[in-house]
Amino acid sequence: MPATLDVNVLEDPAHACAAMLLGPILGGGNLVLTGGSTPRRAYEELARALQAADHDVSETALWFSDERCVPPDDELSNFGLVRHALLAALDPDTAPQAHRIEGELGPHEAAERYELRLSQSGAPEFDLVLLGLGPDGHIASLFPGQESLAEDSRLVVGVEQAGLEPFVPRVSLTLPALANSRQIVFLVTGEAKADAVAGAFGPDAETDPQLPASLLVARAREITLLLDDEAASKL
Ligand code: 6PG
Repeated sequence: MPATLDVNVLEDPAHACAAMLLGPILGGGNLVLTGGSTPRRAYEELARALQAADHDVSETALWFSDERCVPPDDELSNFGLVRHALLAALDPDTAPQAHRIEGELGPHEAAERYELRLSQSGAPEFDLVLLGLGPDGHIASLFPGQESLAEDSRLVVGVEQAGLEPFVPRVSLTLPALANSRQIVFLVTGEAKADAVAGAFGPDAETDPQLPASLLVARAREITLLLDDEAASKL
């Protein structure tokens, strides 16, 4: 189990998520953002908080947990989500630097290039990694039972087959890369995620490659869960 697991069941988890991201962004840290649909509101709220703070945060680096192998302007792009919901609202001269995964290059080339980029920046220990959770327990683009879960030496892997929609190849940070963070924040909402939440974080949780989140729990230092009532309903 991680050093600490802090479970928060909240009326507005997106609001709490924006508040948690704000500090490390203002502090010039290295953060990992995630995709999917859940974080959109958190990113929009974070954009408003950053506008209000009016600080130069161009030393802050935003990395990505994973990407779909599509061009950055495709509606499935995780970078596209962050660009629309967060970066577009900020002054480009003082906004954080976003290091996008070049999904359009295909899973393996994009993974190699992202790994190089991370390594050239000192393969940072992240200040904060934000993740969502799939109803099947996947995190980033690490899906149940796939060999990417066993990757122990690389920071980034190409994933030819997604285990869940959208069924496009993916690029994902690996478990060791994600675990190398001072804190990991999960933003999870909705009843469809309740079994996965209980399986990975509940009192009877076990480490199980069929539930990728549980493998990260075993390696992480500090995990904060931001859940709504539905996602927490089976804890
Ligand atoms: C992705 C993700 C993925 C996501 C979960 C939850 O690219 O799909 O990064 O790991 O966080 O699938 O997605 P939702 O928020 O859409 O439920």
